[in-house]
Amino acid sequence: MIYYDRVSKIYADNSVALDDVSFSIEPGEFASIVGHSGAGKTTLIKMLLAEERPTSGAVFFESTNVHEIPMSRINTLRRKIGTVFQDFKLLPNKTAYENVAFAMEVADRPDDEIHSDVPHVLELVDLADKMNNFPDELSGGEQQRVAIARAIVNQPDVVVADEPTGNLDPVSTFEIVQILKKINDLGTTVVLTTHNKGVIDSLKKRVITMDRGKAICDFADLSDHDALLRQQRRVTDKHLVAIEPAANSFAGNVFDVAGFRDREVAVIRRANRRRRQRMR
Ligand SMILES: Nc1ncnc2c1ncn2[C@@H]1O[C@H](COP(=O)(O)OP(=O)(O)O)[C@@H](O)[C@H]1O
Ligand SMILES: [Mg+2]
Repeated sequence: MIYYDRVSKIYADNSVALDDVSFSIEPGEFASIVGHSGAGKTTLIKMLLAEERPTSGAVFFESTNVHEIPMSRINTLRRKIGTVFQDFKLLPNKTAYENVAFAMEVADRPDDEIHSDVPHVLELVDLADKMNNFPDELSGGEQQRVAIARAIVNQPDVVVADEPTGNLDPVSTFEIVQILKKINDLGTTVVLTTHNKGVIDSLKKRVITMDRGKAICDFADLSDHDALLRQQRRVTDKHLVAIEPAANSFAGNVFDVAGFRDREVAVIRRANRRRRQRMR
């Protein structure tokens, strides 16, 4: 579904951001891209969204070379990819509800769908009680949950999260990771970039490691990765510790936040089914 084919990117000032990178991400996968600051993670994301052009190579999304999509149709691509960023990018003069509703308005979704879907996704990220708060009346973790609600409200095929926990404390970090994991469990492909080892350890999912523009390691084989993780820490409980000791004591809370109710799960499954039917 996502395929980087020998992608290199040299910026105008000659900095090599990507150096012959190839990998693919299948529908339904949860792929984490890790690496130090400057490794090329954000550049990879920008390539997929067609915000930057590769110097050589090509990036495919659902068999389409994204850099051959005409400008007039680029929004169609971007609507299939929900995005979440480190700095949340919420509109400060709109409430949580309005921020999410706005994403539906610009996608030309009818009013009745907006009225029914917005409260639903905000409930999903456990913010039903704060939907009328403005961003400056929400914690960092809550703002990021609004951003996730906004990213998923139009039922994208993929959610891309570029360092979504970069500005968050360990507990909020854990909540965000659990929500992304749940979204993935319900059928949406997730691409996450992070430089937080704890996040990766707790995920037990595919990890692509970037170093100075190269993809140097790809734990595509999940069974291998599982085995590796098992060596480090055996049970989920201990993966909480991997994020930060503090997260462990909040685990009860955190699971409540990430715990989607049956009804909500059914609605997402229905939406995903509808989408698959449309794609056929
Ligand atoms: N717009 C740009 N112009 C010039 N160099 C850039 C630009 N964006 C990123 N870079 C450089 O490309 C490299 C990779 O950056 P980036 O993809 O942002 O890495 P990461 O997200 O892993 O921190 C860095 O050396 C960075 O300085
Ligand atoms: Mg970055």
